[in-house]
Amino acid sequence: MKQQPSWPDLPELEQVEKQLAMLPPLVFAGEARSLKEQLGKVANGEAFLLQAGDCAESFDGFGADAIRDKLKVILQMAVVLTYSAGVPTVKVGRIAGQFAKPRSKPTETVDGTELPSFLGHMVNDVAFSEGDRRPNPQRLIHAYNQSASTLNLLRAFTKGGFADLHRVQAWNQEFVAGSPAGQRYDTLGDEIDRAIRFMEAAGISSKHPEINETDFYTSHEALILQYEEALTRKDSLTGGWYDCSAHMVWIGERTRQLDGAHVEFFRGIENPIGCKIGPTATPEDVVALCNAVDPDREPGRLTLISRMGASTVRENLPTLLEAVRDAGHPVVWACDPMHGNTFTSESGKKTRHLEDVMAEVTGFFEAHRSVGTWPGGIHVELTGDDVTECMGGTKEVGDADLLTRYETMCDPRLNGSQSLDLAFRVAELLR
Ligand code: PEP
Ligand code: CO
Repeated sequence: MKQQPSWPDLPELEQVEKQLAMLPPLVFAGEARSLKEQLGKVANGEAFLLQAGDCAESFDGFGADAIRDKLKVILQMAVVLTYSAGVPTVKVGRIAGQFAKPRSKPTETVDGTELPSFLGHMVNDVAFSEGDRRPNPQRLIHAYNQSASTLNLLRAFTKGGFADLHRVQAWNQEFVAGSPAGQRYDTLGDEIDRAIRFMEAAGISSKHPEINETDFYTSHEALILQYEEALTRKDSLTGGWYDCSAHMVWIGERTRQLDGAHVEFFRGIENPIGCKIGPTATPEDVVALCNAVDPDREPGRLTLISRMGASTVRENLPTLLEAVRDAGHPVVWACDPMHGNTFTSESGKKTRHLEDVMAEVTGFFEAHRSVGTWPGGIHVELTGDDVTECMGGTKEVGDADLLTRYETMCDPRLNGSQSLDLAFRVAELLR
């Protein structure tokens, strides 16, 4: 099995699996079906998918503020996309379970010492010592508990008034509001306020779930199969099996082998699923994958997340789009403009430039326009915090700035104002 930890204590792992299998599901099958229905609309060109959140969630410093601020940015982006482009936005977080990371190398060597790579807080710790890097199955339970409390807060925020469209201005955090993107958002928020006031003055009640609450779904890369299998439950209503660790789960670029364990697991669950598609994927590979996990050609079942890199997307993507269309799979195509555009800056930080991110999204839209398919969504790594991990943006982050607030445990994330910059530019492409 690819990208799996070498657990030092297998009986302890088994014990943990048994414990997880007894714990309540984190999401319900019916919710996963609603998301599949929403994604079916995306596949049909009637909606847009915004999938966003951390590269890797952390056990450290876990608290309500970071969840709230991440949600604010995602809600802001969704408002920009929906209002400016007039397309409904399906919101899916990389959150409440995004704790496992595939790595390009299984070990890391520092000053002659070789230790296992950091595989995410669900498996081991990021600090470089033998104890920190040893896979610990108790972390699976910790990940479950943190996911449960994250989901609880997300449900409260999105159904309890926080996501009410009367509050669009309140999602604009101070450090974002001062940036050009934040000011542009402020203007848009005024327009929405006016539209709602107009509606109310005309006697149309704004007390509608569509205005007062929002649907927000969770997702993560289903990498550690022991965790995912322990949370896979039979739906009493339909008899189908659902991975109840999240509404949607995806297969990473490194584990999408047709004969691999991850594809095998995904064939057996009925959730909406994703799969990353990198620059080495051939049209035959992608169609074979579609046939394996979407034999019924079900709209919303499969989201293909292309992550080609800005320089190759125009060349690589069109033949894949044609092949999948011709094979009759009604997939969602989403663009991950992050993972193909990572480089090391002169100051030595792993980073991404917003212009490369934008260039890949632009190439993704052009590829779809040339083939006549629907550019269904974006998949991005972001945080609500005012970090300096990616370069560029209208509130420019330069190479030297990367040293001031570089906090990610894994890949560099867009900060709040860079995320809004991206949303405004995607909205322009969508119009
Ligand atoms: C990720 O989404 O964080 C990731 C590791 O992506 P990929 O599988 O596309 O490399
Ligand atoms: Co990442």
